[in-house]
Amino acid sequence: MILLLVALLLGALLPSCAAAPEPYKVLKPPLDTPWTYCAGIKPWTAKYPRPQLRRALWQSLDGIWTFQPTDGRDGQPLPSLPLKQEVLVPSCIESGLSGVQAMGVTTMWFGTRFSVPPPWTSNRRVLLHFEAIDYEATVYINGAKVGSNRGGYTRFSMDITDHVIHHDDSNEIHVYVFDPTDDWSIPQGKQTKRLSHIFYTPCTGIWQSVWLESVPEQRISDLDITADMTGNVTVTIHSNKKQGTPLELSIIDTHTGKTVAAEQLISDQTLSFTVDSPKLWTPDSPTLYNVTVKMGEDEVASYTAFRTISSGIVDGVKRPLLNGEFVFYFGPLDQGYWPDGIYTPPTPSAMLHDLELVKRLGMNMVRKHIKVEPEVFYEACDRMGLLVIQDMPSMRVFDNRRPSDVEQAEFGRQLEVMVRQLRNHPSIAVWVIYNEGWGQITDHHPEFELTERVRALDPTRLVDAVTGWHDHGAGDFHDNHHYAEPQCGTPWYSQPNTAYSPNRSAIQGEFGGIGLRPDNANLWPLRPAVDTINETYEIHAGIESYHYRARTLLRLLREQIERYACSGAVYTQTTDVEGEVNGLMTYDRRVVRIDEEAWREDIRRLFEAASKRRGDGSLVA
Ligand SMILES: *[C@@H]1O[C@H](CO)[C@@H](O)[C@H](O)[C@H]1NC(C)=O
Ligand SMILES: *[C@@H]1O[C@H](CO)[C@@H](O)[C@H](O)[C@H]1NC(C)=O
Ligand SMILES: *[C@@H]1O[C@H](CO)[C@@H](O)[C@H](O)[C@H]1NC(C)=O
Ligand SMILES: *[C@@H]1O[C@H](CO)[C@@H](O)[C@H](O)[C@H]1NC(C)=O
Repeated sequence: MILLLVALLLGALLPSCAAAPEPYKVLKPPLDTPWTYCAGIKPWTAKYPRPQLRRALWQSLDGIWTFQPTDGRDGQPLPSLPLKQEVLVPSCIESGLSGVQAMGVTTMWFGTRFSVPPPWTSNRRVLLHFEAIDYEATVYINGAKVGSNRGGYTRFSMDITDHVIHHDDSNEIHVYVFDPTDDWSIPQGKQTKRLSHIFYTPCTGIWQSVWLESVPEQRISDLDITADMTGNVTVTIHSNKKQGTPLELSIIDTHTGKTVAAEQLISDQTLSFTVDSPKLWTPDSPTLYNVTVKMGEDEVASYTAFRTISSGIVDGVKRPLLNGEFVFYFGPLDQGYWPDGIYTPPTPSAMLHDLELVKRLGMNMVRKHIKVEPEVFYEACDRMGLLVIQDMPSMRVFDNRRPSDVEQAEFGRQLEVMVRQLRNHPSIAVWVIYNEGWGQITDHHPEFELTERVRALDPTRLVDAVTGWHDHGAGDFHDNHHYAEPQCGTPWYSQPNTAYSPNRSAIQGEFGGIGLRPDNANLWPLRPAVDTINETYEIHAGIESYHYRARTLLRLLREQIERYACSGAVYTQTTDVEGEVNGLMTYDRRVVRIDEEAWREDIRRLFEAASKRRGDGSLVA
């Protein structure tokens, strides 16, 4: 006892020396995937994190950082590094892969040390980029506050040059994070602390890549480029100095290596020019063209694709068009949840594995459901030929509140940030504003104003203002949700205000969702997920009836294409997520539940039926 007291006293009196942080290891998640234990500590560092504005000099800061929860507020004094325990960046702290696997932490610190190669700071600037931190972040470099951000899904960047004061690796980054999931009405998608059947484990913290970049003093700050089916290219190259600097842009055919356009431009001015007979981008033939831009000492690489997304009357009703032709959209509701990584896929190849199944089945689309992925996901869709219906992450509103004016304004701001960040990706065809009424104010109809704001930012895409529920006629689609059977452009409908009218394209934003309980080995075993499995829209007792029913639903959809105005459909869903056991695959991606061969044939017949509505008899997949 006395010894203990002496030890405690000594401990209190001696100058404190930082304890080594608790070392990183993957914590066993409730359910693992084939990638969990081989992901390592730098799964994302080989991928350039901003594929449409690439520069030669960059350095990933992904890897092992340290972490500690805090009751305290943001600000000085900053806690000394290292913090209490190691954490994997990027990851959600709720995930096994993070090495933390903690629930309910709302205020916390992340920290690490880094070095910058000396040539990076001589007559150049150093930018620090965070691809996504959920939800609010304040960033300190060597103790000085240099940036902050609100919004869990998009990139923010800062110039840290003047704060990099050490030549070795003793420069410090502190990131203070605050995540009020469920407490405020914020865009949070399916994340919740109030777990239920269709709302899942939240994600908190630095869940996408962190990286440094060396740039010239005067540089390209952003690039907006669209290229359409007529060969018309419209570009605006933004510069940080906004003083009208000459620059050169080249467009290169990636197959032949030939330069198809070489233009002289002025920064911050919009220019249009034409490329003769370009190869068009379609899901079957996703042709990309490389783009290079030089401005003084700065040089960036990007890519684009020639294609036009529009809508028009085909066979009597409004339908979505790709390159002037009706292309039926068919693909899964793609939530991008992982049992080991929650929001962060365990590795890039795990992320691709989901898209490869979609492609193999002959689908041509994914609906990215109320989540924004790392940009490398959209790059993969651009390259593989998958159209993307991109949802804005929904706000959640509890206890009959409605979003306050401030919360509503913030939702609109973050919607614009998402559109600006992703609008160069050729694969994106449609922006979705509201899903099933979540966070949607219904006493007036803000989706009209938001639709106009999205169109102003991006006139080259369609807008699905309201997918499911409270439709008041805004946007380009009449989008009904119905489980399990589709009601796609049909004269009967289940929800109020969803009578189909021919002046907007009819799509089935969600249907299917039939389920089958997987073996325990492939099941997310936590409550309330396992207790709510039977809430899966339609649960089957055996694989025979599951397969039969799946084919029935695809047949019904085909008949609705043949008879009614159905122009696209989203099947729920790519994988099981927690207690929703209705995926094409199980949550751990180890079991493909569907009968792949039967699905490929049924999907082929969907596109065949759609091509007959187009009138020329050819396949449009
Ligand atoms: C090309 O597209 C831009 C933007 O839509 C438009 O302003 C311009 O007139 C078009 N040029 C041609 C030649 O069609
Ligand atoms: C196109 O860009 C990619 C990525 O920067 C590069 O790997 C490829 O070699 C380029 N192709 C051509 C033909 O320039
Ligand atoms: C579309 O049709 C519906 C009903 O037929 C009508 O209420 C609505 O005003 C029309 N919208 C437009 C943009 O024409
Ligand atoms: C779900 O339904 C099945 C079949 O009726 C039943 O055997 C099972 O106990 C139910 N599970 C739960 C968690 O209620």
